[in-house]
Amino acid sequence: MNTPTQTTRTAVVTGGTSGLGEAAALALAQAGWRVLIVGRDPSRGADVAKRAGNGSEFIAGDLFSLADVRRLAGELSRKAPSLDLLVNNAGGVFSAGAPTVDGLERTFALNVAAPHVLTEGLLEPLAKAKGRVINVVTGIADGFKADLDQVAGTKAKGGMFGYVRNKLALLALTRAQQQKHAARGITFVALHPGIIPTTRFGHTMEGLFNPFTTIGPFFAKLFRFGVTEQVAASRYVKLAQDSVEGAGYYYEGALRPGPKLALDAGFVDSVWTLASQKTHQASA
Ligand SMILES: NC(=O)c1ccc[n+]([C@@H]2O[C@H](COP(=O)([O-])OP(=O)(O)OC[C@H]3O[C@@H](n4cnc5c(N)ncnc54)[C@H](OP(=O)(O)O)[C@@H]3O)[C@@H](O)[C@H]2O)c1
Repeated sequence: MNTPTQTTRTAVVTGGTSGLGEAAALALAQAGWRVLIVGRDPSRGADVAKRAGNGSEFIAGDLFSLADVRRLAGELSRKAPSLDLLVNNAGGVFSAGAPTVDGLERTFALNVAAPHVLTEGLLEPLAKAKGRVINVVTGIADGFKADLDQVAGTKAKGGMFGYVRNKLALLALTRAQQQKHAARGITFVALHPGIIPTTRFGHTMEGLFNPFTTIGPFFAKLFRFGVTEQVAASRYVKLAQDSVEGAGYYYEGALRPGPKLALDAGFVDSVWTLASQKTHQASA
């Protein structure tokens, strides 16, 4: 087990108590990082922190509550006044259902609102370390379209397309963050980790037929597509340490421009405004 030194870099990984977040936290620790593991389950969190070593700790937080995200940002800033890396990894797909305590549709709340508020709350420690923010998105086709009413307005209904629209919004938000905060020395990049059929991804969808937990893993096994959690985790570590020119879309181990809409300046501005307004309203 590594022992932290004065030069040990510190990372925050959200959703670090299971799935890719856990694998990434362990891989970062193996590469010498101290990891602050954010999650909801203290016993799983303590276990991951213990296995990570290197001074890593579990920090409890529920990203469905913006008040808790703001409290979390304060706690993390005290634990890491100079923060080298924030990985907004927690994410998920949800069926249409009850909104969060802030009145937000759950897919938007977890995949866009929480990363936005947590990142804004950690700008000081990130700037101090000239750190990096990795927003975990997904594979998105170049021509994929989304209107913002489907992301967080009256037409936002979750489901698979709702999930991809929200990840597209997070990708556009990454560009907006880079434009707004790059002058402080922080770099922002979006990561598609690959298709990993072994995590619990999709278990949050309700209903009798859930493609994420039924045909998805079946076809992945049959046609042998997808990668292991370890391969995905190595992408997180590579991206944490590689030089990155401007905000980008890191896909299958290489930087790409990203889908057309995420490159559209008007869309990028609108997503920034939407995320800011929705999270501001929620806090009011
Ligand atoms: N698996 C894939 O093929 C794939 C492909 C592309 C992108 N991704 C993205 O990769 C990321 C990790 O996904 P995964 O496959 O590891 O899925 P997962 O196994 O479902 O992990 C999701 C993580 O998010 C956490 N989380 C969910 N809601 C939370 C909340 N309200 N507050 C705090 N933490 C919360 C979960 O914690 P609990 O354990 O407490 O629920 C869990 O640790 C996600 O952003 C996902 O969209 C996955």
